[in-house]
This record gives sequence, structure tokens and C-alpha cells, in this order.
Amino acid sequence: MTAEYKVHGDVAVITMTNPPVNGLGYATRVAITQGLAQANDDPAVKAIVITGAGRAFSGGADIKEFGTPKAIAEPNLLSVILAVENSAKPVVAAVHSVAMGGGLELALGCHFRIAAPGANIALPEVKLGLIPGAGGTQRLPRALGVEPALNMIVSGEPVKSELLAQVPGQKLFDRMAASPESLAEEALAFARSVANTPQPFPLVRNLPSRHPLGDAYFQFARNMVKGMAKNLPAPGKCVDAVEASTKKKFDEGMAYERELFMNLMLTPESRALRHLFMAERAASKIADVPEDTPQRAIGKVAVIGAGTMGGGISMNFLNAGIPVTILEMKQEALDRGIAIIRKNYEAQVKKGKLKQDKYEERMSLLKTTLSYDDLKDADLVIEAVFEEMGVKQKVFETLDGLMKPGAILASNTSTLDVDRIASFTKRPEDVVGLHFFSPANVMKLLEVVRGAKTGKDVLATVMNVAKKIRKTAVVSGVCDGFIGNRMIEQYSRQAGFLLDEGATPQQVDRAIEKFGFAMGPFRMGDLAGNDIGWAIRKRRAQERPNMLYSKTADKLCELGRFGQKTGAGWYDYKEGKRDAIASKLVEEMIAEHRKSLGIVPRKIADEEIVQRLVFALVNEGARILEDGIASKASDIDMVYITGYGFPMYRGGPMLYADQVGLFNVVQAMKRFQKNPRDDASFWEPAPLLARLAAEGKTFN
Ligand code: NAI
Repeated sequence: MTAEYKVHGDVAVITMTNPPVNGLGYATRVAITQGLAQANDDPAVKAIVITGAGRAFSGGADIKEFGTPKAIAEPNLLSVILAVENSAKPVVAAVHSVAMGGGLELALGCHFRIAAPGANIALPEVKLGLIPGAGGTQRLPRALGVEPALNMIVSGEPVKSELLAQVPGQKLFDRMAASPESLAEEALAFARSVANTPQPFPLVRNLPSRHPLGDAYFQFARNMVKGMAKNLPAPGKCVDAVEASTKKKFDEGMAYERELFMNLMLTPESRALRHLFMAERAASKIADVPEDTPQRAIGKVAVIGAGTMGGGISMNFLNAGIPVTILEMKQEALDRGIAIIRKNYEAQVKKGKLKQDKYEERMSLLKTTLSYDDLKDADLVIEAVFEEMGVKQKVFETLDGLMKPGAILASNTSTLDVDRIASFTKRPEDVVGLHFFSPANVMKLLEVVRGAKTGKDVLATVMNVAKKIRKTAVVSGVCDGFIGNRMIEQYSRQAGFLLDEGATPQQVDRAIEKFGFAMGPFRMGDLAGNDIGWAIRKRRAQERPNMLYSKTADKLCELGRFGQKTGAGWYDYKEGKRDAIASKLVEEMIAEHRKSLGIVPRKIADEEIVQRLVFALVNEGARILEDGIASKASDIDMVYITGYGFPMYRGGPMLYADQVGLFNVVQAMKRFQKNPRDDASFWEPAPLLARLAAEGKTFN
């Protein structure tokens, strides 16, 4: 049973017991309605309490049932709430810890509510591109007032119960319990005190919903939402639904909410957000590493190299309260690295995002050293030195001779072979890639690179460490560039070919930014430094001499235009400013290169630009899946959303391709094979893509 029924004297208590958050899955819904019937049939029972066991009242819909027939099977949540409202004996919701989505909607259907302080109350459906679908948009404005309700529904963010209880005139909570511990007792007493309430019992649906400013308020709200939520339909629909609560009869408002909800369910944006919600949970699971795999304790961390990455990586651990020792070759390098960490924290203090004492606490966890001897008792060491195999070899040989048994030896390499790095040690099972993204203290993504010999306990441990430092970890196999950078290479090649064929950097950037990318490839290059890609291309040219690139990026670097750091790149920059200004010189350089190739420039439509960039990602993504570098398409989507600025509302490249239709993707690729710079092999559909397209299937 996923709800427990117990009678305490004259009060029946229905306790949802569906861990971890008492999701309102089918079995729980059945159990609640059965409990209600039993209580109504029992002459000894005078009142009913509904509450949740463990860590929540209820977190809402059961995510395990998402998208399955069980999610809407009768009794659905609307029917359960109706049964509560119609109960002949008064029903009290005893809310604690978490009441979200359907959980809050259930509580709103009860005749009375008592809440413990500290409970997180929310209607988070908007985060999945939806609106609440079981009366939340009609009942919350009636119980709490239009303005605070709309704020909660549009933001999806939780608000503490004790704050809500202070909203003037609110009818959300009839009572506040003194503490979470006393809630159960107080709920029983409260239920007894209302046991003799005459019918009809108070129902939220019968309360008025209005805003003193009337229509003007909803106009203001709509204006605000439009500015905040470009590209997402749900926030605007939240306003429509709440407005309906002020204009329509309750039942008509409910029907309208249902209609909006069902329409949103079908939007690509909601599908994308729901996909990512599931993808994030799926990414943390590794098929052959069971959840009960033993883990190693990580109490102390060492970082080697205090450069761009080493500093940012260290901050993640300091933020999580884990002590870090950073090692460098020279004191100057250490001083420089520490100064940057300080500067970052001080900026946060200035903005009020970090308290001074927290800042000091974090810095007190940081030690620096020039001697490997100070690292040997670390549980995890992360190497972030220069991207050269020879340098990494020396570091790993040293670590192998020095670190205590059981220490995890990680490399932050972005392109080098993690298996080779592991082979420099006599303990390859302890070696793993931890590929952070720059700026490492900000970016959510962590690619966990699984070597051929990486131990399962090492994997389980680093996945858990990732959670502690609030990263989204995605497992990648070993290959040049891992998941993210291996795909971006094909995207960058396309960006170059587009220039060769007639586009300008600003046109390419604008087109893909309009599609929703945070930054186009050329602005991105200028920010990250074009010299980085240059160095990688030089290395790859030796390994894969036949790989065709546009030569424009190399020519740019030969001019010393590395990007913002040199004041010029694909764009010009004014001193101290980051605004990208179209560059005459670059345009001439590109035109000259085109001429040397004998290409007559043509006007390229934005649609073609977007398709060529995105489908280049998709095709390589398909190869990555086939090669087993990524174990599922949703992992690739997570990488692109959290590490590469791919628009959330499109759900990542693989889901986007699914939504466009793989047949259509393949057709477009066939058209591109005729482009002058795209050799047919580039657009040869990956075998997996071709097969799925032919079978009418999808990646996800
Ligand atoms: P960086 O040049 O800013 O920093 C490297 C630091 O390592 C320097 O401070 C240097 O003094 C120190 N160092 C070099 N050899 C050392 C040794 N033997 N012992 C101790 N310290 C040593 O380089 P960055 O950008 O921080 O890159 C470090 C690693 O992170 C590279 O493997 C790179 O591929 C990888 N990476 C870089 C990203 C980026 O965006 N910069 C992103 C993800 C990974």
C-alpha cells in the first residue's frame, strides 16, 4: 500500500507512504480514496486527516508514471480531490516539508489545512512547460490572493509555509503548527476541533478571486512575463488561467485550466523541458554500476595547477565545505591563482550573494603548496596542468608513486586519451577523467570520462562527488573530445564552411542565437580564445591529415586575432568592452580566402545556417551513441544544455532532431551534400541515424 490508514479515537489519519516524496501515483490515489470511503463508513470516525510520511506531505505527480497511462488512470487527481471535497466528514490536510504541484492541489481541496513551519510550498509545473492541472490555478488565487498566487505559479519557485501564513487575509493555512515535530498531534487536535462543523464545509472553490486593480493588473503581469519568458508559452498561460479564476465560475475556470494544460502538453517546449527533467535524473544512473556500489570517502581534495581551470575547480569544493590543497610549480603561479579565487569570491560578497564570514570560511579551507609531499593523504586529486601528454605523464607518474592507496586520480584533460594517462600509473582502476567546463565554478556540466579500466566504485564515488558540488555529471567513454567537444568539432567545421560559401561571422552568430543558443560559434571563439582551437587543429592535423577545415580560422590566428583577450578576433572590440563589432578586415580576409577557393559567394538563408550547425551536432551525436561513447541520447542532450548553451526549450540536439523528425533530418543532409565545401562524406548520415529514420523511430 502506498497510503496507510489508521484510526486515532475519533479521527482517521490517511498517511501517504510513497517514497521519496509521496508522489501521487496510481496506487497512492487509489489508497487515498479507499481511506476516505472507509473513514466515511466508520461511525466512530468524526474527522479525517491527510498527511505524508517521511520527507514530504507530497511532491506531486509520480515521475515514475510520467507519460504512461497510469498517470491519468482513474481515480485521477481531479477525482481524488473531488472525493475529498465531497467527504461527509471534514478533511484536514496536515502539510509539512514539501507540498508541491499535485500535493499542494490536494491540500487545497481539503476543507481545512494545518501546516508545519519550514515547509516548501510550490506549484512548479511551469518549469516543465505546463500550468498546474488539478485546480491549482483556480484554487490558489482564492486561498492566497491573486497576486501572490500568480507569482508562485509563474515562477514555480517554493515559498516557506510560515511566510505564506503571514500573507494578509490568506485562507491557505487555517493554522500553523508550532513545529514539524508537533504537527501530527496538533493536526489530530485541530481535526477534533472541527469535527462538528456543520455542512456545508468550507471549500476553497467557494471563495472569491479578485485583484483590486482588475484588468490592469493582468495587463501588467502579461507585460512582465513576456519580457522574462521569450520562447516559452507556459508562463503566459499561467496568467490567462489565473485571470480566468477572477472572471469565470469555478467549474468553467477548471475546464479552461484543463484545456490550457492539455494544449501545453503537446507543445515542443513542454516536451523538451519534461525530457530534460527526466534526462537529468537518468544521467546520474550508469547501467552496469548499481546504486548500491560501495563508494570511497572523499574528505580531502588536491588540485594540481592553479590556472584558469584549477582555480575554478577548487572553488567548487570550497563551496561544498571540502578542504582543497592546490599545487603549482612556482610561487608566482600560486599567488596569481589564489588572487583570482579571492577576486571571484569578493565579487560575490559585493553583490550580496555571499556573506563575509562564509567567504572567510571557504578561504580557510584552502591550502597551497609547491611540494607534492603535502598532497599524499588527499582522497581525490584533480590534475589541471597544461594540455600536453608529456606534462601529464610526469604528473601521473609522480602521483602514482606518492598518493595513498585508494586515492582517486583524476584528469581535467579536455581532449587527451584518458586510458593513456591511466597507463602512466600502476593503478589504472583509480584513474578517471573529470572534465570541467570553463568557468569551472559556474558551469553546471561535468563530463565524467570512464577509462577502459576505471573502477566501478571510482565511478560511483565521482558521480556522488558531482552531486555534492552541484554539477550535472554525464558519463562519457574515451575518445578525442569526449561527448561535447567531439560534437562541437563538426559544428565548428560547418561554421567555417558557411563562411567559405558566403556567410559572415555575424550572420552565422545571429542565426543560431535566434534559434536560441546563448552564443554563436564566432562570438564564442572570441570569448574562449581562438588560439585554443588553433592548437587543437594543429594536433588533429597530424592525426587526421585528410580532415577538411575552412582555413579562415587559422588565418585569423596568424593575424594574432585570438579574441577578446587580444582586443580582436572574428570581431573588433573597443578597449574594456565586450560588444562584438563587425570587422572589415575579417570580412576582407574571408572574401580573399573564398576567391582563392574559386567560390562565388551566395546568400545563405538563416534556416540553412541553423540546420547545418545543428544537424552536424546530431550526426556526430548518432556516431557517439553507436560507438558507445554516450550510453543514451538524453545524456548527449544534457551535455549540450548544461555545457554548450543549447536552448533548454528545444531539449538538446538529439531531442530537437526527434521533434523535427529523423526522416526530415536525413533529407536535409542529402541536400547539403551538394554544397561546394561540404564533401559528401560530411553529410553521410551516421548508420544509426539512417536506420532510425528509415524505421520511423527516434533517438529518445
Ligand atoms: P592554464 O594554462 O590556465 O593553467 C595550467 C596551470 O598548470 C598553470 O598555472 C601552470 O603553471 C600549471 N602547471 C603546468 N604544469 C604543471 C606541473 N607539472 N605541476 C604543477 N602545475 C603545473 O590552463 P587551463 O586552461 O587551466 O587548462 C588546464 C587543463 O584543463 C588542460 O588539460 C585543459 O585542456 C583543461 N581544460 C581547459 C578548459 C578551458 O576552457 N581552459 C576547459 C576544460 C578543460
